[in-house]
Amino acid sequence: MSETMIGAGPKRVDGRLKVTGQAPYTSDNHLPNMAYAYGVFSTIAKGEIINIDLNEAINSPGVIDIFYHDHFPRLYRSPASMAQRNRVDETRTPFEDNKVYYAGQFVALVVANTFEQARAAAYKVKVDYRRDSDTLANLDQGVKAHGTQPGGNHHSRGDEASAFERAPVKIDAIYTTPVETHNPMEMHATVASWEGDRLTMYEATQGVVQHRGAISKMLGISPSNVEVRSPFIGSGFGAKLFAWPHSVATAAVARQVGRPVQMVVPRQQMFTTTGHRAETRQHLRLSADSNGKITSMLHDSISSNSYTGNYVEVCGRVTKSLYSCPNVTVDHAFTQINRGTPTSMRAPGAAPGLFALESAIDELALAAGMDPVDFRLANYAERDESMDLPFSGNHIVEATQKGAEKFGWYQRNPAVGSMRDGNEIIGYGVAACNWEAYKQPCDARVSLRADGTAFVSCAAQDIGTGTYTVIAQAVSELTGLPLESITVKLGDTSYPDAPLAGGSWTTSTVLPAVAQATRSAIDQLKSFASGGEGDFGGLSADDITFENAQLSANGRRVPYADVLAAQRLSSADGEASTEGMSDDFSFRSFGVHFVEVRWDPGISRMRVSRVVSAIDVGRVINSMTAANQVEGAVVMGLGMANFEAAEYDARNAMPVNNNYAEYLVPVHADQPPEVDVILLDYPDYNLNEYGARGLGEIGITGMAAAVANAVYHATGKRIRDLPLTLEKLMA
Ligand code: MOS
Repeated sequence: MSETMIGAGPKRVDGRLKVTGQAPYTSDNHLPNMAYAYGVFSTIAKGEIINIDLNEAINSPGVIDIFYHDHFPRLYRSPASMAQRNRVDETRTPFEDNKVYYAGQFVALVVANTFEQARAAAYKVKVDYRRDSDTLANLDQGVKAHGTQPGGNHHSRGDEASAFERAPVKIDAIYTTPVETHNPMEMHATVASWEGDRLTMYEATQGVVQHRGAISKMLGISPSNVEVRSPFIGSGFGAKLFAWPHSVATAAVARQVGRPVQMVVPRQQMFTTTGHRAETRQHLRLSADSNGKITSMLHDSISSNSYTGNYVEVCGRVTKSLYSCPNVTVDHAFTQINRGTPTSMRAPGAAPGLFALESAIDELALAAGMDPVDFRLANYAERDESMDLPFSGNHIVEATQKGAEKFGWYQRNPAVGSMRDGNEIIGYGVAACNWEAYKQPCDARVSLRADGTAFVSCAAQDIGTGTYTVIAQAVSELTGLPLESITVKLGDTSYPDAPLAGGSWTTSTVLPAVAQATRSAIDQLKSFASGGEGDFGGLSADDITFENAQLSANGRRVPYADVLAAQRLSSADGEASTEGMSDDFSFRSFGVHFVEVRWDPGISRMRVSRVVSAIDVGRVINSMTAANQVEGAVVMGLGMANFEAAEYDARNAMPVNNNYAEYLVPVHADQPPEVDVILLDYPDYNLNEYGARGLGEIGITGMAAAVANAVYHATGKRIRDLPLTLEKLMA
């Protein structure tokens, strides 16, 4: 074991539970005497409920009660603070009043003895609406109707406008990205159970502690009376970071009916009431000098927001620091429309932002007459010019060179449409990827037990990414215990506080806390040994060493389990409470995607045939789960590039393709035959003792631009509006 554990690629320790169906998801919890809730969802996007007719529904079999705005327990709005751990993105609580702000909003909630009974009755609830005619269905309509509001995150240095004015090489273009929806396989779901004043929730959430904070605020009860459990989730991609209306509604009605209640959000409403990636319109204006050095960058973006929340898509979050440039302006604005509240979706801001930026950089490189790879190499920033700080670690030059070599970039013929293979035209594209690295404050507890096992607990989450496994690896390395002797417990507010699983920060945050707790348990073990009567009694704890699950001193080695047993002690325990990251550096991860597309104009078929992604993420903790993260993100990026778009009827803001038949995500047939992930393995000890940065999100950034740039190389069509559909290619 020991030191070889970090960087190795052991299989997921929870893998067997997952594939045998023993890892319970929220909706697997069927408590005694449980009732089931089903929503009635608005069929208009803006207006008012003028009447609700419950007559038929209330007499439907099994119905316990039907809730709506005039018959709903009192709820409060959460302050929605990330720092106070009570953030929600939809700040309006459900059933506040009779107003409708988006299609798919909860207008009633049926509670019945079974799921089927609740659903059948929900279909019988008759709602009369007064529909407003000035419904705003999309970003353009919002801007036209009432303009934009400032979205913050402004950055400015130098004088972009005058530098652009005098530059010899320039591009100026608008890029747009549509609404995308998170489509985790596991549905959003809540189970709420009250015992007196105490609430236990099973929740499909990426953060039990944040969820507890938000729910207790909205119910107006003490967080100490709320426990949230989410040991396993079927992914979330950001949609499960913060509480949505169904969750607080379920908790409220469970108290009212005096029974545990389960609610699963139907897939269609996961397109309306549990968040989505906002629609964006981005203005990129870039210039370069005659030597191919970037001289100015403007990135102005507008994103769609709702009337029920306050979410801004920060498209320019990477633009201000990836390239060296003296004159930069980055701005954000939003416009409110009649749609559910947007939220973070894998690499929020950066995913749409880098589609625009890295497409524009490609256009600028070509305008400058330079190879797009050489152009990037000539312009990457060596320090973060927006923060005026050094990067904690940045190997993007090496990533670009290694990726280019592996991909065979320089064998390409740069002329558009010049590379053919039979009926297919081949295109090569490149784009940089980038995402912040974080480390958050975190607590953890570790027990070394008398039976020779270790027990780790932490209220962090494993959202399917391998957190259980990397924690077990870290404890194994420090203790010498084999993985199977280490039990890791996550996703429960009764464990030590931890941040939600977001921002790609879980590994870099949780491992240092677990390591510190492990060392503290080992220290307690040594003090037990030195204070006892046994082999080490009377020695100073400092003279005792711990290695391979054994204590040793003066040539004597004893398994730690025997030391505990000899003193009739159950365990040696350690707790840790670690701090966030330093502010001496700009912490980011870096990488590059190389993409090959094949376009067959005869049958209008376009597919991504080859991807090489070289990513600089600090030290790799588990080579298998790490590569999995990037591969998954590449496929999701391919979906963003070619398929995903939630459509809304421009006349009434009703969702059009809110189902798996019509909202396209990549299926097996769409996977590129080759996805080659190169993980540069340079530890970043400025971030944490493991040198690990996160990598859940970076892999999706830049991917859509790399595809779009390859499509341009193949076809000569510069498509600035995602997704890159066949209609656009044939136009
Ligand atoms: Mo991520 S969008 O912070 O789950």
